[in-house]
Amino acid sequence: MKIAVAGTGYVGLVTGVCLAEHGHLVTCVDVDEKKVELMKKGVSPIYEEGLPELMVKNMERLTFTTDYASAYRDAEVIFIGVGTPEKVDGSANLKYVYTVAKQIAQSVEKDCVVVVKSTVPIGTNDKVEDFIRSNLVHSVNIDVASNPEFLAQGTAVRDTLHASRIVIGAGNNRCRETLEKVYKTFDSPKLITDRRSAEMIKYASNDFLALKISYINEIANFCETIGANIEDVAAGMGFDSRIGNKFLKAGIGYGGSCFPKDTKALHWLGNYYDQEFKTIKAAIEVNDNQKLKLLKKARQYYPSLEGLQVAVLGLAFKPGTNDLREAPSIVNVGILLDDGASIRAYDPVAAKAFDALYPGKLTYCDQAKEALNGADLCFIFTEWDEVRALTPEDFCSRMKTPIILDGRNCYSVESFEARKVVYDSIGRKTVNTLF
Ligand code: UGA
Repeated sequence: MKIAVAGTGYVGLVTGVCLAEHGHLVTCVDVDEKKVELMKKGVSPIYEEGLPELMVKNMERLTFTTDYASAYRDAEVIFIGVGTPEKVDGSANLKYVYTVAKQIAQSVEKDCVVVVKSTVPIGTNDKVEDFIRSNLVHSVNIDVASNPEFLAQGTAVRDTLHASRIVIGAGNNRCRETLEKVYKTFDSPKLITDRRSAEMIKYASNDFLALKISYINEIANFCETIGANIEDVAAGMGFDSRIGNKFLKAGIGYGGSCFPKDTKALHWLGNYYDQEFKTIKAAIEVNDNQKLKLLKKARQYYPSLEGLQVAVLGLAFKPGTNDLREAPSIVNVGILLDDGASIRAYDPVAAKAFDALYPGKLTYCDQAKEALNGADLCFIFTEWDEVRALTPEDFCSRMKTPIILDGRNCYSVESFEARKVVYDSIGRKTVNTLF
């Protein structure tokens, strides 16, 4: 099928490339000329495992352009995969969705189905359909369908090629049949529903996962108080298939471009309809506090951070990506710098992007070990393999004072027990043989 995809961020580009892998002819549209030039050469502008290879493999079915009119003119299906960032009040900013909707209305010369993949507030698909229909330049039939995505960064290609489910929110048979044709060769279960339910499924799924993380983080904090071990607790809960064993990893809190934004957006929407989501509010509050948990721990060991040498391991919001959006590292580093600490940081892919946030303020190391040299304190924000591979010996031999604050529970508590060290992680016993 002839498909156009608007936006080449995580959602748009991965969708476009995976649709090409399934034999469709895909034109990916973006406003950023530099990005388009890169993609034309088969270079992925985002760091995502497996994506560059898949792009190169499917290059003959992929076109990249800034010329939206040529892409939309005779497309059978147009996917909208642009960002819906958070506004100051927490609601979703739909300006990019409507910009694309307008361009579609001005360009299409053939009947087509417009598919909204971006995460949008419930009811948006109805509005986008009305908007496009009332702005059409040519006399054509346009239907809008909702098809939320469930890909996670770092596993985006696998999550798309073998999705846990394909949700199709269609207002009529033509829409439904067109999307069934698009996904005919995909092996995932398909759920056909109305558009509002499809939009709701996306928010309900993301916010449930965020809630699950905040829940386990609260339990972890209580485990520290009462002397229980969160990993055993989570494992014990996970045996129950009604609970499931995923997303029960306690840590320094969730970040990324999705959970923080989508929890706030649904909470905002609930308030708009005079129905507050109390559970989502709690998930947001717990997460905001959790992000500062290591700093609170640090102050138990050093009342002032002024003049300290701090090692920071991991900057990205999770391993496998260079994305820093809402990463716990950002707020923590800001406070550490304000408090007068100097920082040696390590991240295998996100260092350059981080430097743009705090220009020239940190020293970046090529190896995780190097960041530890001479440190008074170590913060771990991302569980990269390179960070997990460090040994207690690395910390003890390189740090001036081996106080390790592990926000991702990268190591076993026992491995530090025979050392002169502070090893303080999340929801587990603290090893303190220093003080
Ligand atoms: C998330 C969802 O997992 C995807 O299903 C969804 O499609 C995507 O948002 C989206 O809406 O686009 P993503 O933000 O890429 O994907 O990353 P996750 O793997 O979900 O991790 C989010 C955050 O939660 C990370 O900071 C991670 O460290 C944290 N997390 C995750 C935990 O703290 N504990 C866990 O057990 C799992």
